[in-house]
Amino acid sequence: MELQDRIFEAAEYIRSKTTLEPRIGMVLGSGLGDLVDTLTDTVCIPFSEIPNFPRTTVEGHSGAVVIGRKGRRAVAVLQGRVHYYEGLSQQEITLPIRVLAALGVKTVILTNAAGGVNTRYNPGDLMLICDHINFSGSNPLIGPNMDKFGPRFPDMSNVYDASLRAGIKEMAGFWGVYLREGVYLMCSGPNYETPAEIRMFRNLGADAVGMSTVPEAIVAAHCGMKVIGISCITNMAAGVLPQKLYHGEVIETAARVHDDFHKLLDGILSVL
Ligand code: HPA
Repeated sequence: MELQDRIFEAAEYIRSKTTLEPRIGMVLGSGLGDLVDTLTDTVCIPFSEIPNFPRTTVEGHSGAVVIGRKGRRAVAVLQGRVHYYEGLSQQEITLPIRVLAALGVKTVILTNAAGGVNTRYNPGDLMLICDHINFSGSNPLIGPNMDKFGPRFPDMSNVYDASLRAGIKEMAGFWGVYLREGVYLMCSGPNYETPAEIRMFRNLGADAVGMSTVPEAIVAAHCGMKVIGISCITNMAAGVLPQKLYHGEVIETAARVHDDFHKLLDGILSVL
């Protein structure tokens, strides 16, 4: 079956499970999945149950679509994501984002854990993504263009919508959250970067580095959706501090920042 038909089949399956019509989508990265516990009228559909959905293999990414209400708003949450380093193409791992578009989602909030490249950052900081650098070595739009979703050569000059960002920055203090703003660079992973790579990325203008989000943002932009990206700086990137990187630190910091991250996401959802 063609990719486009597989996307519509998945969307149709999800639509058959709920009467809600979400206009807001969310991708919850490492350790944030429990945000769905604050939704009401929820339906939870495991990725494994949805036709054509990719499967996750990473700890902390359980993999389900949760549709529910946050206050008056209906939201569709991707609880967990499939990473490029798991072995599928970027076209495949971003299928859930196109399914959100097919469901009628207009704005998508992408969250992730990232390493701090900017030496002024600290582990535990939250960063609003203002732009990205695709250093992943691939692109999710490679292949025949799906004209039903967007153009062959989509514009990427305002992927992380500037007016939404301005509103969020203005409100962050009121929500009690300290928010940085910076450029996110994606590497494929799964290894962490080398100190030389991180020095290069700093010179290229990156503030944070991670292994996700960019393919999703590109596809969302292709579909005409607005994107909000938020990174939790879980560790300083390789070579910034005289210590090794390990996944445990990422999990620990994500857990520590969890409540602030929730406050920020609640705030954002209240103004969308
Ligand atoms: N590098 C890449 N991805 C990451 C990092 C990092 O330092 N921390 C969390 N995700």
